[in-house]
Amino acid sequence: MVQLNADAKGSVQRIEGRDKVTGNAKYAGDLGASSLNIAVDVAVAVMSTQATGRVVSIDDTEVLKSPGARAVMTHANAPRLHTVFATNGAEIGELLPLQSDQLHYAGECIALVIADTIENARAAALQLKVEYSEPNSGAAFTLEQGASRAKDAKSVGAGDKGEVEIGNPEEAFAAAEYKVDMTFESAPHHHNPIEPGAIVAFWDDTGGLTVHLPTQFSYGDAVILGEAFKFSLKDRLPRIVGQVLGGLNFDNKVRVISTLAGGAFGGKNANVYLLLASMAAKLTGRAVKLALTRQQTFSLMPFRGETRQRLRVAADRNGILQAIIQNAVIAQGAAGKYAEPAGENTTKSYACKNMKVHLQVARLDTNAPGWMRGPGACVNQFALETSLDVLAEKLGLDPLEFRLKNHADVEPGTGHEWSSKSLKQCYEAAGRRIGWFDRNPAIGSMRVGRQLVGFGLATSLYPVKQLPAVARIILQKDGHAVVQTAVHEIGQGMITAMTQVAAEKLGLPVAHVHLEWGDTKLPYGSMTVGSMSMLSNGAAIAEAADLVKQSLFKHLVRKRSSPFFGKHRHDLEILNGRVTSTLAGVTESVSEAMSRLDEEIEEESIAGRTMGHSSYGRYAFGAQFAKVLVDPELKVVQVERMIGAFAGGRAINPMLARSQLVGGMIWGIGQALMEESKIDSRSGVWMNRNLGEALVPTHADIADVDAIVIEEDDSRGHRLGVKGLGEIGVVGTAAAIANAIYHATGQRINSLPIRIDRLL
Ligand code: MOS
Repeated sequence: MVQLNADAKGSVQRIEGRDKVTGNAKYAGDLGASSLNIAVDVAVAVMSTQATGRVVSIDDTEVLKSPGARAVMTHANAPRLHTVFATNGAEIGELLPLQSDQLHYAGECIALVIADTIENARAAALQLKVEYSEPNSGAAFTLEQGASRAKDAKSVGAGDKGEVEIGNPEEAFAAAEYKVDMTFESAPHHHNPIEPGAIVAFWDDTGGLTVHLPTQFSYGDAVILGEAFKFSLKDRLPRIVGQVLGGLNFDNKVRVISTLAGGAFGGKNANVYLLLASMAAKLTGRAVKLALTRQQTFSLMPFRGETRQRLRVAADRNGILQAIIQNAVIAQGAAGKYAEPAGENTTKSYACKNMKVHLQVARLDTNAPGWMRGPGACVNQFALETSLDVLAEKLGLDPLEFRLKNHADVEPGTGHEWSSKSLKQCYEAAGRRIGWFDRNPAIGSMRVGRQLVGFGLATSLYPVKQLPAVARIILQKDGHAVVQTAVHEIGQGMITAMTQVAAEKLGLPVAHVHLEWGDTKLPYGSMTVGSMSMLSNGAAIAEAADLVKQSLFKHLVRKRSSPFFGKHRHDLEILNGRVTSTLAGVTESVSEAMSRLDEEIEEESIAGRTMGHSSYGRYAFGAQFAKVLVDPELKVVQVERMIGAFAGGRAINPMLARSQLVGGMIWGIGQALMEESKIDSRSGVWMNRNLGEALVPTHADIADVDAIVIEEDDSRGHRLGVKGLGEIGVVGTAAAIANAIYHATGQRINSLPIRIDRLL
């Protein structure tokens, strides 16, 4: 087994890193007159203070007298919008902002105050007088209040079935000798990226709309704007993927330019503020910037919704799993289709003949939950991996031994071969590193000083997916290449990784490749979600690179002046920036080769037409081990050590991959111990909507966290051998910590986060 370290081959430093650390990088909130060469007004959002009922009146007299005030936009004067299709199930697919006086949730935007500066806009907004009707009785803001609203989910996430049944789970569970029946809860929690949502929007003289914002899907946002403002038919086409597959260009009057994002994590696309700023710019005829406050992000951006799960798992006396049954209720908002795909991993984790997933959704009177890193899988794995530990204990089996006994050698349910699976190596590598095999497995048996010590483990897995994407490569006369595809840099290292893939496939040094990204003027880049960007856009780049090379070689073997004249083009390759025929022993630099051509070479390629369809089972796998210290009286939990080992195919840039994995694990520590957005059960207002009270892990909370990237080549599944490593780091972390706390204390807390008061 080979382990890649951060200094391993391929670990190119972040291309935009220097700009970021020196403050030269521009985020959407930084944009203004000096960077855009147009005057930019500033808008402030005013939010409803109650969840239901309606806005009876809004008095803006004093606002408009305020210094610098330009306009107030409310449901009374806001541009009317047309229905949009939100590919990610976002709230705006069902609820457009400022179209009526009806309220849907507390913190809904009821007005935008626009002024010349942020200070004036804020001061003016304070003068707005709003009158509300009585709120409706019977509102529900938590799953407890809304229990009666639960109904069977037709589909969740990106279309996973709400109900799956394999074999005879109920009978098998009833008949099994060893069984566990447990319930779990997980609290709502928000993405809380460092950068809140921000956007600059303006309309030009020709009626075109341009927006700058951090987004995970520039084309998706452009189509939404096209639909909302009813541009021509071509602009409105909702099925962008169909457009791409049909080879159509997205040539319209809406342009979305994605800035760098200060974190996105699933929360930045198809956002309400995309429409709000564009509406305000239309209303005022001027450029408008809207940057949310931290408080506003709690209701004007999505979050991970609350879940409740029941897990029943059963085994025979030999420790062979007989049944896995999951029932879950998942919170939805007042509008929006999204629900956590909380059952995605249940039937793919272990070899078991009888399995069932039954998911329900309950609409609450809140803003809409949405995608958030490790969507579904995070809460899914917490329940599954905890209940398996309880079952292992009943069987008298070591938790790892139990999992190995039930290792799925082929994909459960389908019987398909895995494209690759190195889970056993993951258990071994991470377990060895953390000292799992040397621990005393007896509950409460280990101490350091007065602190109780506990070890816990969990399996991680995340599905491998691919979407269609397009890339264009221009090989210039100077031998440098420009790569164009509308991908998005959300902090994960996209610019660097895509540049690397292009350089590798073209045979050029990284420094000779320049990526143009994040702009709907560029070829269609897929949605930057689901750990699949390298699969989607990477494949398009690789194919375009092949076309460029073939085109170059074809020219070279035909040019009399070329040293490759008359050679066979299939014997040519580009290595380290030099066109080479090893067979003929001839070589020249790409720039010399290009100088023989009349013009530059430009090629475009679409990949992923079949959405990465494969007859293999395709998942990335990992194993996470936690070592916790628990104070026996104060019940303060410190994750002293967290080691994960992950096999997600080839890591294009091991340093960036490790950074994603460690980041995910740190977030998992937050999910396990801290993260909880508290909603007032009377008013529906998010109460801890600030970074002082909505706890997230800080430097002091994190001791030793490391990720081991297990080298794996998944070329059976994908031409680049990749499976995706963006999200799997967060999957399983909470379960590993919960299991470690049990080992230390004998206490099972089945509600996330595992707060001190729950342990006391
Ligand atoms: Mo990610 S939650 O798929 O943006």
